[in-house]
Amino acid sequence: MRTGTGSSRLVRLGSTAGGELKEADGARHDRSATSPDTARSGRYHEPVPVYLDHAATTPVAPEAAAAMLPWLTERFGNPSGSHAVARAARTAVERAREDVAGVLGLDPGGVVFTGGGTEADNLAVRGVGGQRRLDGLDGGVVVTTAVEHHAVLAAAERTGAVREVPVDRDAVVDLDALDAALGPDVAVVSVMLVNNEVGTVQPLHDVVDLVRRRAPRAVVHTDACQALRWVDVREAAVGADLISLSAHKFGGPQGVGVLAARNGLRIRRLVEGGGQERERRPGTHNVAGIVGAAAAAVATERHRPAFLPAVAARRDRLVAGVLAGVDGAEVLGTGAERGAGFALLCFEGIESESLLILLDDAGVAASAGSACASGALEASHVLLAMGVPETRALGSLRLTLAPSTTDADVDAVLDCLPAAVDRLRGS
Ligand SMILES: Cc1ncc(COP(=O)(O)O)c(C=O)c1O
Repeated sequence: MRTGTGSSRLVRLGSTAGGELKEADGARHDRSATSPDTARSGRYHEPVPVYLDHAATTPVAPEAAAAMLPWLTERFGNPSGSHAVARAARTAVERAREDVAGVLGLDPGGVVFTGGGTEADNLAVRGVGGQRRLDGLDGGVVVTTAVEHHAVLAAAERTGAVREVPVDRDAVVDLDALDAALGPDVAVVSVMLVNNEVGTVQPLHDVVDLVRRRAPRAVVHTDACQALRWVDVREAAVGADLISLSAHKFGGPQGVGVLAARNGLRIRRLVEGGGQERERRPGTHNVAGIVGAAAAAVATERHRPAFLPAVAARRDRLVAGVLAGVDGAEVLGTGAERGAGFALLCFEGIESESLLILLDDAGVAASAGSACASGALEASHVLLAMGVPETRALGSLRLTLAPSTTDADVDAVLDCLPAAVDRLRGS
């Protein structure tokens, strides 16, 4: 049960789940005591009462779990083999490829399954960029934005020829600066669809138009790892040559990604091995993972129109409650279109890490900026690029909702967050 009692148990700062006073130093309690209700609800298998970190990863959707189960139990087979067992696995992978291609509106032949979003981004930026350099097509410059995920930024760095385009205060790419960065030496332009910290949706149609005019031989890549749950990628990324997805951001399993390319676009593989994925990604297929990713993509596509308004309304209520309850709180990215589940908040005078510990103790799972960045006391490159002063950026909190998020989850956060910030401010 995750209503009523859930929130009252969770959120009293200074008391544990069992109602005893918590240590003043914020020592963590064993929250497994709070887990049975959650476990019975079947929504999460971990003892996490209120999970608002869906941009980090999502629970596996029932449709994905059901599709995967046979491939984790009685069905198996290496899709590269020639006998019946192998052929069955190959058929499953090819059906998954068609399903993903259908969701993206691209030809199945352009869909490459990878080991996650990071690999898909690398394959796009380095694999395609590198191939074009080998083909002698152009100068091989990668143009990208200052707010990309590290998978793109680091891959672009690796090519040795990067131009990073600034963004505005809502993390929207500066189209004039992009215009200035484009030219005949550009091989790849990589602009994400939905930002993983703020949720900003980039004006990808404008980006594609600009690239076609100013750098007609460049390919456009979009990192849509955070996008599929919140936007119709088929429409939003129309005209893009390459699209990256990460299954665990939309109810699929971790460790499965997709790089979907306009069919015919040559991709140079990043690792050597067998001929899988038409030599673009060697290595034995993760059949269960691929099947689960496709099922999650199809389910997301089907349910999105119904869940979007409800998630946006809960997110807005959460943000309004925080702004009303915490002095000097600020929500970022409101001037741009945003993914419905994203709320990026900043609080002056506190450090995110301490806030996350207090929230964790109160049974709320959240993060500060991207998952990879949390743990290090460094201001997020995304927030700095948006012009957020470092002191505020160091006090950021990312709350990311899902279709499964309930009103009780929102109440639980509103119950504990103001007290946590007050406590850290010493007021
Ligand atoms: C925008 C974006 N791109 C790429 C990735 C990397 O995806 P994966 O975790 O599947 O490697 C993430 C994950 O946080 C992301 O948010």
